[in-house]
Amino acid sequence: MATTSGDRGEWGSKLGFVFAAAGSAVGLGNIWKFPSEVAENGGAAFLVIYLLCCFVVGFPVMVAELSIGRRTGKNPVGAFKALGGGPFVLVGYWGILCGVAILSFYLVIAGWTFSYAFSELFHGLGQTAWSDAFAAQGSGPKNAIFTLLFALATFLVVIGGVQSGIERVTKTLMPALLVILVLMIGYVLFQPGSSEGLAVYLMPDFSKISTGLIFQAMGQAFFSLSLGMGALITYGSYLNRRQNLPEAAAYVTLADVGIAFLAGLLIMPAMYAAQANGIAIFDAQGALINSTGLVFNVLPALFHSMEGTIGLILGVTFFLLLSMAALTSTISLLEVPVAFLIDEHGMKRTQAAALITTIVGVIGAAVSFQLSLIGSLDLVFNTIGLPLGGLMICLFLAYAWKTTNAMAEMEDGFPGVRDSAFGKIWPVAVGIVSPILIAIVLTTTLINLF
Ligand code: PHE
Repeated sequence: MATTSGDRGEWGSKLGFVFAAAGSAVGLGNIWKFPSEVAENGGAAFLVIYLLCCFVVGFPVMVAELSIGRRTGKNPVGAFKALGGGPFVLVGYWGILCGVAILSFYLVIAGWTFSYAFSELFHGLGQTAWSDAFAAQGSGPKNAIFTLLFALATFLVVIGGVQSGIERVTKTLMPALLVILVLMIGYVLFQPGSSEGLAVYLMPDFSKISTGLIFQAMGQAFFSLSLGMGALITYGSYLNRRQNLPEAAAYVTLADVGIAFLAGLLIMPAMYAAQANGIAIFDAQGALINSTGLVFNVLPALFHSMEGTIGLILGVTFFLLLSMAALTSTISLLEVPVAFLIDEHGMKRTQAAALITTIVGVIGAAVSFQLSLIGSLDLVFNTIGLPLGGLMICLFLAYAWKTTNAMAEMEDGFPGVRDSAFGKIWPVAVGIVSPILIAIVLTTTLINLF
């Protein structure tokens, strides 16, 4: 495989890549963001549109990113340059900017998940004052410390490089997260009030569909699948030629969508159960009171309702695993600008990682004190930024690089690709359907915003 510097790398095994890419995809997007967006947007209607966005738009874009990455063996900027992208090189820079901006606020939320593990521990030990201190979302200094801790942990894994760092950490965590989610769903479905949440989550009321809902669902699909900023161009660049790209993308999409679906199956019933216990979730107008904090309010309430030490054990384990899921996503967010500095500026991996960690650490610490920045950063660099990047990636692939060249790349690892059903549908999806859908969603939103 093309390597440009000794500081690049390659995945150790086929499964290693799928786990690492799924580790990037599965994170706070699935467990913190998705359930609150479902709750905000009337439940099942959002779920349906979200699933459509993931499979109709997200999956084809993922295959596009992986083929660009493996073809060039480069970071997003280097990849567009290598394929003669001209102005499209700007898409690479935009991706890197989005990555840095998203990482800056993502670290803050990730810091919360970690501090909630301590909060649950102290709660279980009867130390309420300590428990409250670790749970305080509004406390700037506490947030900043946990944000920086998380930045440091991300840095340490990324300097370990592709195989020993990223791949090793992700392989064990995903199955554990899956098991604990299923256990918790089993418990919550027996709680009074939960069936109402289940109905809202699974029985669509299509009158709830609005342009705002579609916009959020599209943004969420890109965010959750780690698309639109070149994270999967970068991860694709570490792939060997034996890997079947569409198959790998399908596994990653299914894993990500599956975990998000389970998170909804846990949180929606848990919200209504918490409400039945007197915790305020919706205001008088039926709007969600605190969407950023939803998961952090609802889940501890659930753990505290459990008998004996079970709540303590599940609470601590859950928040630790969620921190780890967030870590495998922050790793991929950091890896993009790091790969850019290694490839394009000849930096050493450690230097590059230190530089970017310092930048995101400083911005993240500032965000910790000014939590309202989360919403603005999220809107510009995620909900608008990632679909915009995805649109450009589709246009680049179909009209500059050309789908036939991408198919030639996929033939390594998937010899019959041109004659397969995938090979017939994908060029249309990436060249016509996805760009048109993304463009419609983005323009209506921009018109509504201004
Ligand atoms: N997909 C990650 C999550 O759901 C976030 C992410 C977005 C990671 C973009 C990398 C790139 O938490």
